[in-house]
Amino acid sequence: MYSSRENYDRPVLHVFLLVLQIVFTCFGLVKGDDSAQEKAFYVVYMGSSSSFESKDSMVDAHVTLLSDVVGSVDTAKKSFVHSYNHFNAFAARFTPDEARELKSSVNVISVFPNQYRELHTTASWDFLGFPENVPRNLKFERDIVVGVIDTGITPDSESFSDEGFGPPPPFWKGTCGPFVNFSGCNNKLIGARYFKLDGRNDPQDILSPIDMVGHGTHTSSTVSGNSVIGANLFGLGNGTARGAVPSSKLAMYKVCWASHSCSDMDLLAAFDAAIEDGVHVISISLGGFGRGPHSYFENSLAIGAFHAMQKGIITVAAGGNSGPSLFTVDNHAPWILTVAASGTSRQYRSKVKLGNGKILSGLGINTFTPQPKLYPLITGEDAGFETEIDYYDYPKDPRICMEDSLDTKKVKGKVVLCESSQFQMEYPADIVVSKAGGVGTIVVDSEGVLTYNDTAAIYFSPATTLNGSSGEVIYKYINSTRSPAAIIYKTEAVSISAPFVASFSSRGPSTGSRRVLKPDIAAPGTDILAAYPPSHPITYFEGDPRRSKYNILSGTSMACPHVAGVAAYVKSFHPNWSPAAIKSAILTTATPMSATLNSEAEFAYGTGQVNPLQAVDPGLVFDMDERSYIKFLCQEGYSSDEIINLSGTKMNCPELPPKGYDALNYPTMHLRINATDQKPQIAIFRRTVTNMGPKNSIYKATIKKLKKVKMTVKPKKLVFTKRFQKISFTVAVKLKKVTSHTEIISGSVTWTSSRHTVRSPVVIFTE
Ligand SMILES: *[C@@H]1O[C@H](CO)[C@@H](O)[C@H](O)[C@H]1NC(C)=O
Ligand SMILES: *[C@@H]1O[C@H](CO)[C@@H](O)[C@H](O)[C@H]1NC(C)=O
Ligand SMILES: *[C@@H]1O[C@H](CO)[C@@H](O)[C@H](O)[C@H]1NC(C)=O
Ligand SMILES: *[C@@H]1O[C@H](CO)[C@@H](O)[C@H](O)[C@H]1NC(C)=O
Ligand SMILES: *[C@@H]1O[C@H](CO)[C@@H](O)[C@H](O)[C@H]1NC(C)=O
Ligand SMILES: *[C@@H]1O[C@H](CO)[C@@H](O)[C@H](O)[C@H]1NC(C)=O
Ligand SMILES: *[C@@H]1O[C@H](CO)[C@@H](O)[C@H](O)[C@H]1NC(C)=O
Repeated sequence: MYSSRENYDRPVLHVFLLVLQIVFTCFGLVKGDDSAQEKAFYVVYMGSSSSFESKDSMVDAHVTLLSDVVGSVDTAKKSFVHSYNHFNAFAARFTPDEARELKSSVNVISVFPNQYRELHTTASWDFLGFPENVPRNLKFERDIVVGVIDTGITPDSESFSDEGFGPPPPFWKGTCGPFVNFSGCNNKLIGARYFKLDGRNDPQDILSPIDMVGHGTHTSSTVSGNSVIGANLFGLGNGTARGAVPSSKLAMYKVCWASHSCSDMDLLAAFDAAIEDGVHVISISLGGFGRGPHSYFENSLAIGAFHAMQKGIITVAAGGNSGPSLFTVDNHAPWILTVAASGTSRQYRSKVKLGNGKILSGLGINTFTPQPKLYPLITGEDAGFETEIDYYDYPKDPRICMEDSLDTKKVKGKVVLCESSQFQMEYPADIVVSKAGGVGTIVVDSEGVLTYNDTAAIYFSPATTLNGSSGEVIYKYINSTRSPAAIIYKTEAVSISAPFVASFSSRGPSTGSRRVLKPDIAAPGTDILAAYPPSHPITYFEGDPRRSKYNILSGTSMACPHVAGVAAYVKSFHPNWSPAAIKSAILTTATPMSATLNSEAEFAYGTGQVNPLQAVDPGLVFDMDERSYIKFLCQEGYSSDEIINLSGTKMNCPELPPKGYDALNYPTMHLRINATDQKPQIAIFRRTVTNMGPKNSIYKATIKKLKKVKMTVKPKKLVFTKRFQKISFTVAVKLKKVTSHTEIISGSVTWTSSRHTVRSPVVIFTE
């Protein structure tokens, strides 16, 4: 039931594209008519577990609830998969009818089918103005534990060596095996677990927290890895690889499997374990929860993050790789910090020299050094078989160098020019060319079909990708000579202007709430060098003999751990700050990005590029607790019945929330206007800031005006006389004229004191 794309042994060229593109089908969902109902895995969710005296009493309650529906205690026990601990939920196998019946039981908030989710450096930290020698609060940083929920880890990597590390902090309850083929934890990697509740055997993975994919090793080292000098991928990106908080401890929770991806049941179990063990920050680079309005409580990541937040743990998640279209951002619950991917000033390009001496520049990672000579150059079209091309038979089209379309006799020893195509994800041209005996591949993107033209893919054989205008130069050259020739050089890092939001990075607005601006922030996510399992090929192509302890990957998966690392860094200075305070500090201190360069503006980059050094000292924070989120859920239309058991203490929705009332004290402000009925044209945002800076601080408001909008702030000046003092203000916006087309109008309110700048974007969206 899995398409070929989902198998890692397919000749898949682009490591990052693989990470980006895998779309996992739902497993275990019922097919066919209702009379022949199949059992499937489901999660039954009931909110907070704090009213239970013990885990056993909760398990008993779960079995009782299930047996009421499936008929007997015996059947219930057989259908049972797992009871969670830090929230009231369980996983079990039953039929859709039984799911409906359970859903209508008292106290059940949601019942949702277990689905399978997708996985969504060195210089990147310097690029962010966060050099190796930044001030650190090592006393606390050493006891910070970052939990990473991912594909597992490579414990032998130098990035996770414990040289110079003290023992785990006394509160730590995590465990670590022993596991198969896992050398074990140490004083850096202090916890590792895996979760595979569906019991299926994954032929390409093993029941151990060892990383058989590479993704989890990479993200873990970006957030917390040691400083490792001379890290590189075949010389590329050579430098010191390091995480944001190299002295922190790390715990891996493996939920994503090489060919089975990441299931909801396992994801919830990982959150449960991370809460139990005592992590401070959770970094989670996966998603695929679908678009469209849907319940936060049918979303395992949102549920897990909610209960983590209750325990004071901040969850940082990847915003997804479905850009650049609007409405694609994932993991958009307001209690999650949602990260977009930006490009840094380093790009990996290869020079192509033509027989006439012209030099062109292509994108992509080519680790091969050619013999210093020119090779004969041929187009895919000229290298096809003599038979007439059936242009509707795409799979055999030699112009795009499809599988079995090239004549070995014509290709042998030559560089082949292939047009880009949408099929290249599955049938990478360079693999076809090298299999046919070619020595190099130049992909030309004449039609602009490559969506991801700002990110370097790793090629299996010598290759690079040229844009349309460079492609024209090469076609002209081929036409101008009898014996065209070219050489593709090994990739070099070049400097480009940055930051910009990566084309693949998912864009807002959020499909969840109309009130919350998402994504929250941008961080480097293109061409990131970080640790990698040296036992795996650097591409997922099975015939690829290349191994490296560091690899270059792209995705919001790579951006997320940058921000999780910054959250840990902030936490090391302010151990008592709430998740919302830490998030506010990171958001309001971000470096603004350009709306000219990124036309989706805040929907592409949130508040801007993360700025780790400023985040530690934000001046003011927009703080919130659990109650704010619960009031928010009421506002979103959840009923008292649904939310009453969410927190440990009973909460009812107010009968009528005051008009214009803001349940969330969110650090950004967002108004969405329905262009059809032109409403609402007015919004009043009420916010409260807490003074985290010096006790006597005066802040003045500056407004960056929005086009066509009247905007006022009251009061215009905030005078603090104490630390932790709270002062409220309102921002009123009124749109003068509503257009009838999609429009993003950006502005901001900035509070400035002699030492601090606290910036909140204000975004109006008409749809
Ligand atoms: C453990 O690793 C060894 C050596 O790489 C391998 O031969 C063995 O199959 C692995 N064990 C499992 C359970 O995969
Ligand atoms: C990487 O840089 C280090 C110095 O920082 C140097 O000693 C080493 O040779 C370089 N490695 C490669 C492969 O360029
Ligand atoms: C990538 O493609 C988009 C859309 O075709 C284009 O606007 C953008 O300029 C391209 N970027 C680069 C770096 O070529
Ligand atoms: C194509 O690539 C070349 C080389 O990087 C660059 O100079 C040129 O601006 C690009 N053209 C377009 C249309 O993006
Ligand atoms: C190259 O020559 C072919 C055939 O003569 C022609 O169709 C094509 O337009 C030419 N391309 C360029 C870029 O001149
Ligand atoms: C949930 O709330 C209802 C209504 O107040 C209460 O009867 C029930 O005991 C609660 N359940 C749990 C598990 O807290
Ligand atoms: C916008 O308003 C129109 C008319 O009131 C309504 O039919 C439509 O569903 C609304 N669209 C959204 C996105 O709410």
